[in-house]
Amino acid sequence: MADGTDQKSSNQMWGGRFASGPSAIMEEINASIGFDKKLYAQDIRGSMAHAAMLASKGIISPEDKDKITDGLNTILSEIESGRFEFSRKLEDIHMNIEARLATLIGPAAGRLHTARSRNDQVALDFRLWVKEELQKTEGMLTTLIAAFLDRAEENADTVMPGFTHLQTAQPVTFGHHCMAYVEMFGRDRARVRHAIEHMDESPIGAAALAGTGYPIDRHMTATALGFREPTRNSIDTVSDRDFALEFLSIASICATHLSRLAEEIVIWSTPQFGFIRLSDAFSTGSSIMPQKKNPDAAELVRAKTGRINGSLIALLTVMKGLPLAYSKDMQEDKEQVFDAAESVELAIAAMTGMIRDLEVRKDRMRAAAGSGYSTATDLADWLVREAGLPFRDAHHVTGNAVALAEKKGCDLADLSLEELQAIHPGITKGVFDVLSVEASVASRTSFGGTAPSEVKKQIAWWRGRN
Ligand code: ARG
Repeated sequence: MADGTDQKSSNQMWGGRFASGPSAIMEEINASIGFDKKLYAQDIRGSMAHAAMLASKGIISPEDKDKITDGLNTILSEIESGRFEFSRKLEDIHMNIEARLATLIGPAAGRLHTARSRNDQVALDFRLWVKEELQKTEGMLTTLIAAFLDRAEENADTVMPGFTHLQTAQPVTFGHHCMAYVEMFGRDRARVRHAIEHMDESPIGAAALAGTGYPIDRHMTATALGFREPTRNSIDTVSDRDFALEFLSIASICATHLSRLAEEIVIWSTPQFGFIRLSDAFSTGSSIMPQKKNPDAAELVRAKTGRINGSLIALLTVMKGLPLAYSKDMQEDKEQVFDAAESVELAIAAMTGMIRDLEVRKDRMRAAAGSGYSTATDLADWLVREAGLPFRDAHHVTGNAVALAEKKGCDLADLSLEELQAIHPGITKGVFDVLSVEASVASRTSFGGTAPSEVKKQIAWWRGRN
């Protein structure tokens, strides 16, 4: 019709009390099949487990259960081979599959929805999907950590400047810097594992919100679907989306870690820093400037963080005002999670590739590590240890030495003994042993410190846990 209304037929799944069908706009705003068809495998698995339970409890006949199972198997192969016709009129994946089942097996299909509602059905499908996604993320983080452990091992002795305020602070090793990311991604992975544990409860059987009077066995469906146990409160079950929020929070934190690393890669690969060279496989050229090699993959990892954080805020905002139990607002949960999952997976994969491939320019790191008076703290520590100065006085004396070196345009190690003694008479030639970056790094043997010996211990600890 010209006004966009199609009032010919009411919905075949719930249209009993409706005289006419929805307007075209209603259909458009209501339909979720465009995105929730991603849940087809989980929906079919859930329905099979539900039907088997209904039959085992005598709620449906074994014959109907077999017909339902066969029909669902047919639908699964139709969808996987691209032969299934999704219909927007049927709103969502649940009703698309059920309507097709009715065409395939007739009246037995109508028995599948006994003791179940789309509210617990969607909660189940989505939970299964998020759980699988978390398991995948766990594996991808393990691979990323492994890539970092390899680089850390190769570079346990590679000296580079450590920064605070992005100003040269103290020399560290590149291996130590890599291990900082191992700690971050290790915590991300622990959060993933914790989230899997939280959400490992089966929603099916909560029905619309109040449970059901049919003698169902929720423990049976929970076990069949690989959950630890059924959820304990039917109202919470159909209204809770914190498993999705938890996924998005974890994805946002992980993306934030990836983004900081991406930012470092962008900085390190500039000609000015020149600490690393990205492989051709993870960079692009410029269409106008032939000399350019751009860190696009790192930049896009950094940018994906914006989308992922956006998804978290979007779903938090959708959920914040909803009274218990189900409201249709909750249909908006899926696209956020699907989009964030795709982005975080891609970002982890791209980062793993970049870390595996990148060329470490040890000479450039070594040269930069010695500049910017990075061993000034070592001089102050030497004055405390060897000349008996209080640290505050040693700090002041060292400041004078830095000022002199700056005036002369040289490094601390290039000042002569006479010049140093003019600043403080207690200084002896032994001081030159600590002014090198290698000595500085090797001396930092405190637990978790940057000394190669310590970094190697941390690598071994992680190897045993990855
Ligand atoms: N497509 C819906 C969703 O994603 C399924 C649940 C519909 N429930 C309902 N009572 N209308 O949330």
